[in-house]
Amino acid sequence: MAANKNNILIAYFSWGGNTKGIAEEIHRQTGADLFEIVLEKPYSSDYNTVLKEAQIDQRNQARPKLSKHIENIQKYDTILIGYPNWWASIPMPIASFLEEYDLAGKKIIVFCSHGGGRFGQSLTAISKLEPNAIMGEALSVHYSGGQNLKNDVHKWLELNKIN
Ligand SMILES: Cc1cc2nc3c(=O)[nH]c(=O)nc-3n(C[C@H](O)[C@H](O)[C@H](O)COP(=O)(O)O)c2cc1C
Repeated sequence: MAANKNNILIAYFSWGGNTKGIAEEIHRQTGADLFEIVLEKPYSSDYNTVLKEAQIDQRNQARPKLSKHIENIQKYDTILIGYPNWWASIPMPIASFLEEYDLAGKKIIVFCSHGGGRFGQSLTAISKLEPNAIMGEALSVHYSGGQNLKNDVHKWLELNKIN
């Protein structure tokens, strides 16, 4: 059975807005629920500082506290999860999110914004955190995706039998 918008959740973390823009494009094309992963204590808005903060969090395998929570995760059978490539892996808020919910048996479909490193090790990191989820075809987007974004998202949704 093809997924339909009522059982799909788009969940994303974005620091600079690129992943947010991709998530919003997916939302426009699917009508699925959109959820932003937000921290209780946000990272610095200064680029050089966030680079350091993110590296420290990754070294420590930190689980920063999230300030928003999904009330009814059972409603969804497909989670489209988006994040920027940070230090060749997931930002640690994605680990906080994945540990908060039991996604066993659900389908996880990744979209990742990056500056050249594509997914890095992030897909492996997600599989380790959710070993019993089914991984769909992931999408990597260079920064904001530019003019190709709409078309790339469309093709990727089709590939995953969404829409
Ligand atoms: C802390 C930090 C670490 C990053 N590490 C990488 C990296 O290892 N590889 C890469 O290709 N891009 C890296 N980038 C670039 C981001 O993945 C890229 O700018 C992305 O579009 C940001 O998405 P956002 O605007 O949703 O935060 C890093 C950016 C930041 C802020």
